[in-house]
Amino acid sequence: MRAVILVGGMGTRLRPLTYETPKQLLPVVGVPLIERSLANLARHGVTEAVLSLGYLPEQFVTAYPDGRIAGVAVSYAVEDEPLDTAGAIGFAARRAGIDDTFVVLNGDVVTDLDLSALIAFHRERGAVATIALHPVEDPSRYGVVTTDDDGRVQSFIEKPQGAAPTNLINAGTYVMEPGVLARIAPTGRMSVEREIFPALAAAGELYARADHAYWLDTGTPATYLQANIDILAGKDGPVVGAGQGSWQHPGSQVHRTATLVQAVVDANCVVGPRAWLEQSVLLPGAIIEEGAVVRSSIVGPQAVIGAYAELGPTCVVGAHERVAAGSSLRGDVRLGGV
Ligand code: GDD
Ligand code: MG
Repeated sequence: MRAVILVGGMGTRLRPLTYETPKQLLPVVGVPLIERSLANLARHGVTEAVLSLGYLPEQFVTAYPDGRIAGVAVSYAVEDEPLDTAGAIGFAARRAGIDDTFVVLNGDVVTDLDLSALIAFHRERGAVATIALHPVEDPSRYGVVTTDDDGRVQSFIEKPQGAAPTNLINAGTYVMEPGVLARIAPTGRMSVEREIFPALAAAGELYARADHAYWLDTGTPATYLQANIDILAGKDGPVVGAGQGSWQHPGSQVHRTATLVQAVVDANCVVGPRAWLEQSVLLPGAIIEEGAVVRSSIVGPQAVIGAYAELGPTCVVGAHERVAAGSSLRGDVRLGGV
């Protein structure tokens, strides 16, 4: 089976990290998001995927020069301008010559969703498109989906204002018949959530199925950190090399007097004496000097946290930035610009 992976978004909520790196190439416990997504699809029989790209596309080609990610053969469909989700699906599917049942994935989600069960459900219902659903506490920043007892979608409301009718949201994995492509204009922007799904629901051709899989949209600093912490805790399968709730890349150096609590230390990082890292992620090449304290924060590639500086919660330090020794950055600070 073939899949279209949507990876064209600019990742604005994860800036400044996403100024240099597209969201789907950010590692979660050492493995880029895109590899985690494709590994799960491969487990369910997806052999080919077309990556729908617009933002920083050359970085994917550089990262995967042999055109394989997690065992899946990938091709690239690069948009000249953002086409929005449906425009992107149409462009990529046509580029790849898709003419059979296919899968679509929002590339920023970490999940171990049972895709085989979703495909079987889609076929049993004779659906034109089927959406995976996931229950969340606050559905307001997602697509909210109501269905009848058979799973036929009654309404699809993207990011509802006010009270949502259910806590089941669009989990960003779809099974589609090629007939959906006929509804997507050949050029220009179009949204699958605001245009295609409501139209298919009105025609009675859209189905949805809830699942109890692990699921998280990694689009914000807080959810990106949560995805790392969850994977450390083994929620998405065991982590090779994780000990005492943290993970350290073998090519990093952590001083024996430093403390890691649910922390991720990626390749070529250096953590100095008596530093304290808690529920935080160090991206490749980050340096934490002696005695610095980092809590619930993300330290970008090659950034330096000076000695005895204190950081957090939910600070994001961009690539190559420097936090001065002895300084303190409190909640929600973003360091680094364009
Ligand atoms: N190629 C391309 N072109 N991809 C795009 C574009 C575009 O113009 N715009 C967005 N994408 C990609 C993003 O990279 C992401 O992988 C996916 O499409 C969804 O876009 P987001 O910007 O992450 O949307 P969201 O998180 O606010 O909402 C979406 O995901 C939720 C689940 O995580 C919607 O599909 C919601 O309905 C859903 O609940
Ligand atoms: Mg998202």
